[in-house]
Amino acid sequence: MPSGDTPLLIRNADIVNSDSRTRADILVDGGVITRIAPDLDAPPGAEVIDASGKLAFPGFIDPHVHIYLPFMATFAKDTHETASIAALMGGTTTFIEMCCPSRLDDALDGYQLWKSKAEGNSACDYSFHMSVTKFGTDTPAQLCEIVADGITSFKIFLAYKGFFGVDDAEMYQTLMLARELGVIVTAHCENAELVSRLQQRLLAEGKTGPEWHEPSRPESVEAEGTHRFGTFLENTGARGYVVHLSCEPALRAALAAQARGVSLAVESVIPHFLLDESHAARPGVEGMKHVMSPPLRNPRNHNVLWTALEQGWIDTVGTDHCPFDTAQKLLGKDRFTEIPNGIPGIEERVNLLYTYGVKRGTLTLSRFVDAASTRAAKLFGLYPRKGVIAEGSDADIVIYDPDHKSVISAATQHTNNDYNGFEGMELDGRPSIVTVRGKIQVRDGQFVGDRGRGRLLRREPQHDER
Ligand code: URP
Ligand code: ZN
Ligand code: ZN
Repeated sequence: MPSGDTPLLIRNADIVNSDSRTRADILVDGGVITRIAPDLDAPPGAEVIDASGKLAFPGFIDPHVHIYLPFMATFAKDTHETASIAALMGGTTTFIEMCCPSRLDDALDGYQLWKSKAEGNSACDYSFHMSVTKFGTDTPAQLCEIVADGITSFKIFLAYKGFFGVDDAEMYQTLMLARELGVIVTAHCENAELVSRLQQRLLAEGKTGPEWHEPSRPESVEAEGTHRFGTFLENTGARGYVVHLSCEPALRAALAAQARGVSLAVESVIPHFLLDESHAARPGVEGMKHVMSPPLRNPRNHNVLWTALEQGWIDTVGTDHCPFDTAQKLLGKDRFTEIPNGIPGIEERVNLLYTYGVKRGTLTLSRFVDAASTRAAKLFGLYPRKGVIAEGSDADIVIYDPDHKSVISAATQHTNNDYNGFEGMELDGRPSIVTVRGKIQVRDGQFVGDRGRGRLLRREPQHDER
């Protein structure tokens, strides 16, 4: 169907896909890529973009964000408009949001609510992971309806006891249903009981500041959750995906499950590659700003995560974008257990991964594209519509300037928050043009697009080989 948008001819594109690199022109019409070849003629009325000296990437996909989120006595700060514009400014053209009704809520009502929040309000495309936060008699029928609407993944929390968290019986039932429906299950893997006991013990000892958040959820607690999730996958035959894996013991548990033949993909999120527990130990509210779960870890884990990413043992890099402002963080000034958990990053993920992975590290460009775009598209039923620059794919294209220098600052961010967890970090590149289905949404570092362009993405034929 014609989109009514101006056709685009991108000349001299250095096209980087997860499995190829070619120099060619890219013709875009009707929202899709219609031709990739050298020396194409511009159709009448086309806008011609010269991409010389730039890289052309498939639109990036953030597989783990929170936008509408009632959580820990408050609500995350972004709207779909602010988060999607921030995403686009950073080169992300699709995000997958956690749809998170609590145990007290009805799942289907929750799904409709999350959809209504996003519809018409997102500047980029989106989908949802549907959280299963309890498993009652009406759950299978409700989840079938949600899957029939095109959703390809569920989410379970082994943490957050009594709010989002499921017990082992509920995890088993969810995994059995997911296997039947051909749906992948994403999981937050921390042992809820241990977290709760350790929190109470630390508070009783007068350890109330944000520096005690990490000791209340140590690496072993995450490793146990990851191992248990893997064991349940092994015994149900479901496909799984660990979200925000943060440390070596959890990685070992995931790799051990894979070695037993379990279908388990691994996501890590950008804060865990670059920030560490010392950020949460900063005095006062500065520490609180760096409280997320799993917590920022001992920095010895950084090398482990970067190596695992390079090797492809970590499949995807997301953000777990979850903005709470300074006043909200201060809800936990007397007890670290009341600090709303979350660090934003939807705007910074791609540039940080490019800068500290590719430019200043040893991550290859192809693995960068794979981890930040292609693999998520394959795992979550969006490929080859998304995640690749190819004829017939959606024209979500990032023309990336690898030489642009900037410094991250809350003063210039688009996320709706009054601080930035990565404040002061240097960046070595940025998207100069970003298109969503052929429409230029970002040009020269400015949002110039249509605030309601985003569409809910529905399942493509499964393409989940890794
Ligand atoms: O700290 C975090 N990660 N907040 C958001 C909720 C979650 O666990 O993903
Ligand atoms: Zn989580
Ligand atoms: Zn999350």
